[in-house]
Amino acid sequence: MMRFRRDGPLGLRRSFHGARNRARQRMLTIAIDGPAASGKGTLAKRIAAHYGLACLDTGLLYRAVGRDVLASGQSLENEKAAAAAARALDPATLGDPSLRLTDMGEAASVVAKFPEVRSALLAFQREFAAQEPGAVLDGRDIATVVLPEADVKIFVTADVEVRARRRYDEQVSRGEPVAYAHTLETIRARDERDMGRKDSPMRQAPDAVLLDTTSLGIEASFEAAVAIVQERIENGRQAC
Ligand code: DC
Repeated sequence: MMRFRRDGPLGLRRSFHGARNRARQRMLTIAIDGPAASGKGTLAKRIAAHYGLACLDTGLLYRAVGRDVLASGQSLENEKAAAAAARALDPATLGDPSLRLTDMGEAASVVAKFPEVRSALLAFQREFAAQEPGAVLDGRDIATVVLPEADVKIFVTADVEVRARRRYDEQVSRGEPVAYAHTLETIRARDERDMGRKDSPMRQAPDAVLLDTTSLGIEASFEAAVAIVQERIENGRQAC
């Protein structure tokens, strides 16, 4: 099984449950969820840098599973092949630049619907989040499934046309041959797939703060996100 540390499942349980109250006094865990091209990845990285935390883009895990299934010559719809790829995933390969390509996002969304794939990736994400002094994880199910006890939960979204325009601009800057209408259609289909799957569908956790970046630039979105984190930190302190 893919591991972040080598101390086994008990190590995870110790840091995640046994020592939780002690650890929470000095740790900060931030869950950022949202749909494709909402800007959550950029926000997660900036917030992590701002607070000196580790950062994990969990979409890369699903992208890497899709990549490995395709590389083995199997269909993305082959659940057994996808589960095997998830169990064998080497975290050292997450820096592969090809994972950022549009097709890999689509492949990720297909394999992400399989419960066995999701469960194979869960321990790695939780172990990553348990490192000191804390971590920011971004994805679709971080606040609802991976880290239901995260200190701060933010659901980042934006109108689908705005997200498609941002994604299209990224694709053009990478030299990907694409039409805006196709990007819009693809993002709509991805939203439907990510929200419609049975296991861990994308949705805003009841205790997450909604951050709509439709009319916000990167800087304003970052400031709004920091304000949400600060507010949660202050409230947490008051409650102690
Ligand atoms: O964030 P991203 O676009 O890189 O994610 C690619 C796909 O991976 C996304 O469409 C659905 C899946 N995913 C998921 O199901 N759960 C996550 N926590 C992160 C990504």
